[in-house]
Amino acid sequence: MTEIIDGKAVASQLREDLQDAIETLADAGARPGLATVLMGEDPASQTYVNMKQRDCEEVGIDGIHVEIDGDAPAEELYDAIADLNADDDVHGYIVQSPVPDHVDYRDVIDRVDPAKDVDGFHPENVGRLVAGDARFRPCTPHGVQKLLESVDVDLEGADVTIVGRSDIVGKPLANLLIQKADDGNATVTVCHSRTEKLVEKTRRADIVVAAAGVPELVDGSMVGEGAVVIDVGVNRVEADTEKGYELVGDVEFESAKAKASAITPVPGGVGPMTRAMLLYNTVKAASLQEN
Ligand code: GUN
Repeated sequence: MTEIIDGKAVASQLREDLQDAIETLADAGARPGLATVLMGEDPASQTYVNMKQRDCEEVGIDGIHVEIDGDAPAEELYDAIADLNADDDVHGYIVQSPVPDHVDYRDVIDRVDPAKDVDGFHPENVGRLVAGDARFRPCTPHGVQKLLESVDVDLEGADVTIVGRSDIVGKPLANLLIQKADDGNATVTVCHSRTEKLVEKTRRADIVVAAAGVPELVDGSMVGEGAVVIDVGVNRVEADTEKGYELVGDVEFESAKAKASAITPVPGGVGPMTRAMLLYNTVKAASLQEN
């Protein structure tokens, strides 16, 4: 029987585990604060940011939301970032991507105080992660690590194939999994749109992570018997539903499930974990800043 990995349940346990740290901060008179910054009107981003704000409320984190018009000059976003850097009540914040075309996301990230960079995207934090001394693990890769932990898969020496080389998922996840650490020591292959013989590389893997942003790219024919399949994709594809779309992962679920020993669903797999790890990083930021 293939295990369907319940990301909601793992995330819910993680949120409960955070309560101790939140109470310790409260005893010291501090309450963690997370700000979300959204520039523009991208509907998917609006949904994500709303969910992050709701999460904050549920676990006892102060949520602050900043909205910036999509047509505003980049300087308006930079000013908001400077304000958040200076605000002692904001322990961490994220600037939701994508930003409008006239704004360079790298210039944005460079301005974020690394101590408040709970996405873990600032070059200083990327450098720390690659050096094996991460301050904030980026939320999605960290969530994937926790899901792998939950199914008790042995990473030591395992073959992991990651499909996707993004700065947000593929690159940091590869770096985390190869590290000499209890949750590392894997052998990682990172594939992308120019990779040749992709099927060979996914089929030989003990663990396949699909994070390419291509709907149903990985099907059962690309999965080895008994592999663990983690689907990071959240693709909106047009469908005859009330909303006019449905959410589809990067994995063709049914055919991949037939081969896998464990697999994450979309929704309800990686998504809730990404959100939980943002709360985790916020509490960590607050603990570091208040001590
Ligand atoms: N857009 C998609 N995923 C993310 C994320 O993890 N952080 C931010 N800031 N924007 C995103």
